Amino acid sequence: MTKKLYISTYGCQMNVYDSARMADIMAPLGYSLTEKPEGADMAILNTCHIREKASEKTFSELGRLRNMRSKKLDRDDGDMVIAVAGCVAQAEGAEIMKRAPYVNMVFGPQSYHLLPQMVAQASRGAGHILETDFPVDAKFDHLPSEAIDTNLSAFLTVQEGCDKFCAFCVVPYTRGAEFSRPVAHIVAEAKRMIAGGTQEITLLGQNVNAYHGTLESGASATLAELIYRLAELDGLKRLRYTTSHPLEMSEDLLRAHRDVDVLMPYLHLPVQAGSDRILDAMNRRHTAQEYRAIIDKLRDYRPDLALSGDFIVGFPGESDKDFEDTLQLVRDVDYAQAYSFKYSPRPGTPAAGLDGQMIPEDVKSERLAELQRLLNAQQLAYNQSFVGREIKVLLEREGKRDGQLVGRSPYMQSVFVPSPSHRIGRIATVIVQEGNANSLRGELKPGNVADAA
Ligand code: 5AD
Ligand code: SF4
Repeated sequence: MTKKLYISTYGCQMNVYDSARMADIMAPLGYSLTEKPEGADMAILNTCHIREKASEKTFSELGRLRNMRSKKLDRDDGDMVIAVAGCVAQAEGAEIMKRAPYVNMVFGPQSYHLLPQMVAQASRGAGHILETDFPVDAKFDHLPSEAIDTNLSAFLTVQEGCDKFCAFCVVPYTRGAEFSRPVAHIVAEAKRMIAGGTQEITLLGQNVNAYHGTLESGASATLAELIYRLAELDGLKRLRYTTSHPLEMSEDLLRAHRDVDVLMPYLHLPVQAGSDRILDAMNRRHTAQEYRAIIDKLRDYRPDLALSGDFIVGFPGESDKDFEDTLQLVRDVDYAQAYSFKYSPRPGTPAAGLDGQMIPEDVKSERLAELQRLLNAQQLAYNQSFVGREIKVLLEREGKRDGQLVGRSPYMQSVFVPSPSHRIGRIATVIVQEGNANSLRGELKPGNVADAA
């Protein structure tokens, strides 16, 4: 009898990757994934703690699961094991147990390889299970070898944790110190992914460009060196990495953007703010000018590089002038896309203690709206600049409309084209007809590779 496993994933790509691995680990125990929580035998919330809104969702979602479990028990349809995983679990494990005592297990991002044991314990009625230690031995060593992502475009975690301690950020506390997987493990996983059909790999890490995994020789490799190794693998068509810190954009990595064909011309390089005073208060350890210099160099090496970033408005003490500096930096860089957030104080982080300097909510909202107007205008202009051009699109899946496929351009744009579904998995040449705020629309170039299929 197969059991139904529901996993709800919040937050970053790392959580998406972790959720997929949890599903893989649970499969040998007879659990198969279900889309809906109703009737599930086990429900896992893989949570995000990065901003207050994200972490509040955990508790409202738990309330819903509790109702579903009661209904299931009323129907005499068995119990539902409720688990909270991820960064809220790591940061607020005890609090969850207190506020939601019906939760069976709470475990942090470094503990999901212990799932089989925890499930066995829960089924013996062993009470609450709280597993939020950071084990020294990496969870990766416990992954079943078949537990890999083989989607056409797939994620591969190469690095986890962060030693940067930006003053606003919980990641160093929830994900712990930086850890890099050994090169050989990553290459082996990439090979299995490619054998399973993956064409595009995105290397994941909270601080991915600080990667320093060990080589077979015992020396340590930079992210650029890892990229060169992976670029040699037959069948790998596209390579990306995320998320990066400006301090770690070493010369060899900048050059890889010029020299490695499969490395896609897209980079997510958060700067957070454009004022040196605020960057300093954020403990970012670089100036706005240094960030501009990195961007200039990247564009020298790879003129068509699409840039993305993250921004926080309303960091404690941010003046109108500081905010204007952020707008100016955005104007100077000209982003292809970006994410922006209102500062959200996170318990235990240094910035949360800057009580006297908190920015009123309405000021934060106004600044966010203004920044987003600028970023959205840049994104639209960027997308519109593609009209009439030919781009290569990895056709990944069916679109919303009948007879439509969607894929990504090298620059990370979603591209919709009319095409029969047998072309999924092809890298097709598309002539762009329309550039919208969040996507491109086009048609397959007659006679391109996909057409021959
Ligand atoms: N408040 C608002 N935004 C935050 N981020 C991280 N911590 C906070 C916070 N406390 C944003 C940063 C980071 C992205 C993942 O989330 O911009 O790059
Ligand atoms: Fe958080 Fe800064 Fe580390 Fe990014 S670099 S995860 S923002 S502490």
